[in-house]
Amino acid sequence: MERRAFLNTGLALGAAGIAGTAPSRLNASTRRFGAPDGPVRLSSNENALGLCPAARQAVIDGIAEANRYPGATRRAVAQALATKHGVSTDCIVLGNGSTELLQMMVQATASRRTKLIYAEPTFEDVMEYSLPETYLRHPVPLDRRMAHDIGRMRELAERSWDPTLVYICNPNNPTGTLTPCGEIDEWIGSAPENIRFLIDEAYFEYAHDPGYSSSIRWIMDRPNVVVVRTFSKIYGMAGMRLGYGVAHPDTAKHVAQFSAGTNTNELALRAGLASLNDTGLVARSLDSNARGVAILRECLEELGLEFLPGHTNFLMHRINGDLQTYIGRMREHNIQVGRPFPPMLTYSRVSIGLPEEMERFAETLRTFRQNGWV
Ligand SMILES: Cc1ncc(COP(=O)(O)O)c(C=O)c1O
Repeated sequence: MERRAFLNTGLALGAAGIAGTAPSRLNASTRRFGAPDGPVRLSSNENALGLCPAARQAVIDGIAEANRYPGATRRAVAQALATKHGVSTDCIVLGNGSTELLQMMVQATASRRTKLIYAEPTFEDVMEYSLPETYLRHPVPLDRRMAHDIGRMRELAERSWDPTLVYICNPNNPTGTLTPCGEIDEWIGSAPENIRFLIDEAYFEYAHDPGYSSSIRWIMDRPNVVVVRTFSKIYGMAGMRLGYGVAHPDTAKHVAQFSAGTNTNELALRAGLASLNDTGLVARSLDSNARGVAILRECLEELGLEFLPGHTNFLMHRINGDLQTYIGRMREHNIQVGRPFPPMLTYSRVSIGLPEEMERFAETLRTFRQNGWV
């Protein structure tokens, strides 16, 4: 089906059972930030606000310097991040997205018998990078709170002196749930050095629970801790590809050997710097996210569809019926929702878009209910 026809079908289907949706408003917003006439993208936890105006300008201005290697701008970004986190610049490792940091850590810790301990379900990249020749995988189901089962992970890790990589995604993707930092801290504080902690804080800024804090505070005392952050989420830069790790200088130097020397590009770096300097950006992203979450929660509560207590820019909620069928039907309505995350196949992960996109999603879900689909 042609893309435009596809869109029209989606709108027509949506409009059939929808009161009060404003497709023209929606189109205006997606045209501004997404592909013209493209689907509503609620599948990859992107930030629908897009680059902040200062970052857009920085990209435009940076084009004049794009014939030069980005050494000076790399140093400026590392310095800005070091200042932000109260560490020295040699604690910062830049990456082509935080995914590259995950890959670098997997490679830096690989051996013939490295244990990889991780939650299930969690963000899959670390598992994808860990080859069976070098890693023995130990998935540990999330506990009843939907937190990492630190007790069980610890038991597995401390069973031998083999090199061990522990991946903790906090808040966790795809569940959006938190693991209490007290439990992580207790383990880090007493763990032997054969255990390396890779703490993924991609969604750090969205979490405001009193029991939640960054693990960056450990890095100077514990060279076996690496914390990973990204510009893809709160800063809205997923397409630019910029992320970083924070670690003890010795660890940072070692991990950096596993990337290409100049792995970040001038335009992304400039956009990153401008975003860091935009003091209102985080609050704007949080505000838009909170409005989207409110629309979504209201709809889920109305339909009696249980959802997890999310602390991120996405939310996991129950569906009734087959997940793949549900994802396919959403696509037919021109909405992309998250992929399946086994073993949670009765849940769908939906990213938080602009408020008008969430209205559109909510109305579609109501239509699904009327059709007996959820
Ligand atoms: C937990 C987590 N870590 C890392 C990433 C990768 O982000 P980046 O765009 O920085 O590579 C994602 C992306 O969705 C994520 O959810």
